[in-house]
Amino acid sequence: METYKFDKSMELFKKATTLIPSGIYGHESPAILVPGSFPYYAERGQGSHYWDIDGNEFIDYICAYGPMVLGYNHPKVEAAVSEQSKKGNCFNHPGPVMVELAEKLVNLVSGMDWSVFAKNGSDVTSWSIQVAREHTGRSKVLMVSGAYHGAHAWCTPGHAGLIAEDRSNVHLFTWNDESSFHQQIEKYRGEIAAVIMTPYHHPAFGDSIMPADGWWQTIQKTCNEEEIVLIVDDVRAGFRLDPRGSHVYFGFEPDLVCFCKAIGNTHPLSACMGKDKFKNDASKVFLTGSYWNSSVPMAAACAVLDVMAEENSVKIMMDMGEKLMKGLEDLAKTHGLQVKISGPYSIPFMRFANEDNFLRNQLFCAEVTKRGSFFHPHHNWFLSSAHTEDDINKTLEHADAAYKIVKDEFGS
Ligand SMILES: Cc1ncc(COP(=O)(O)O)c(C=O)c1O
Repeated sequence: METYKFDKSMELFKKATTLIPSGIYGHESPAILVPGSFPYYAERGQGSHYWDIDGNEFIDYICAYGPMVLGYNHPKVEAAVSEQSKKGNCFNHPGPVMVELAEKLVNLVSGMDWSVFAKNGSDVTSWSIQVAREHTGRSKVLMVSGAYHGAHAWCTPGHAGLIAEDRSNVHLFTWNDESSFHQQIEKYRGEIAAVIMTPYHHPAFGDSIMPADGWWQTIQKTCNEEEIVLIVDDVRAGFRLDPRGSHVYFGFEPDLVCFCKAIGNTHPLSACMGKDKFKNDASKVFLTGSYWNSSVPMAAACAVLDVMAEENSVKIMMDMGEKLMKGLEDLAKTHGLQVKISGPYSIPFMRFANEDNFLRNQLFCAEVTKRGSFFHPHHNWFLSSAHTEDDINKTLEHADAAYKIVKDEFGS
């Protein structure tokens, strides 16, 4: 099997580093992947596939790190986008589509009575904390150690450019560890405005960890008793576990929920939704951005929600993810390799069980990617409802070849 070359990607990246600090930044930075084994620049996408600037075609299991959920260039979503684009996108006022979208979301997402919109996940996770502070008159925030809530100063995993005060009101506890949670509750009793958590733990460079039995019930009960606002950051998992919100999937009731990624099927939009009792305080917390009222992404999101309901997208993603992950697990055994699968099937993750440095996974994901299926070695993967059985079968062929290389290089 001929493997891909990335010459144009490398060349353009070299030029980019002269014009753009670090060339490509954030989680898309090539610095965190095996150099020369992954594409750096995308050209176009269709369905579950995309093409890089070297003309290589990939079956995509990162889905733009989540925003692609129904397939690139989805006909119904793009029809809604082009209809709205013809009328215009950004005006002195929002378009009526903003009210249409808010109504659809309120009817869909369980327990939520209102919605606001922004562009990125970080916009709404940060804003939701301000709402909690306004509502409670308290300053402190509890979050899970290793959780990602965005790139703003209070939560960025980066270290540069920060001052101690950025984090001085943010305190950590351990996922699924009730005593670590209660310790923080007791230490800061009466000062905690919000507990912000993802619906399950999906750290980079680690296995995804589902909530232990009773975990969410403990969190919710304690937040209710202590009058702390419970915020769910559903930016990554939202609309991939249950269209009514991941809190429905795990059986609990948050106060505020943040969405982004899947909601616009690649069109930039995020949302924060909340219960009625926070609406008044939410209306006091300043919220705006130059493009935040744009109609085109909102028209896209209306179409996304319709398509998801029509085709039962979550079930397709779960079924395709299950086929992929069970196939990878079985194939690994035939090569005498041990893999650990974690996370829900629509947002799965895999690593080699007998190492903790990801070196095998880097080689494995690079070799799979060079054959035409984009896998990431230390970030969870994403399925879309555009993935087909044929895609999965092809990917398992790519994985078969890659497992052989891993076995030759590292042994069992
Ligand atoms: C759970 C979670 N919260 C927040 C964010 C931040 O979203 P954005 O990158 O759109 O600001 C992300 C992004 O990956 C995320 O996965």
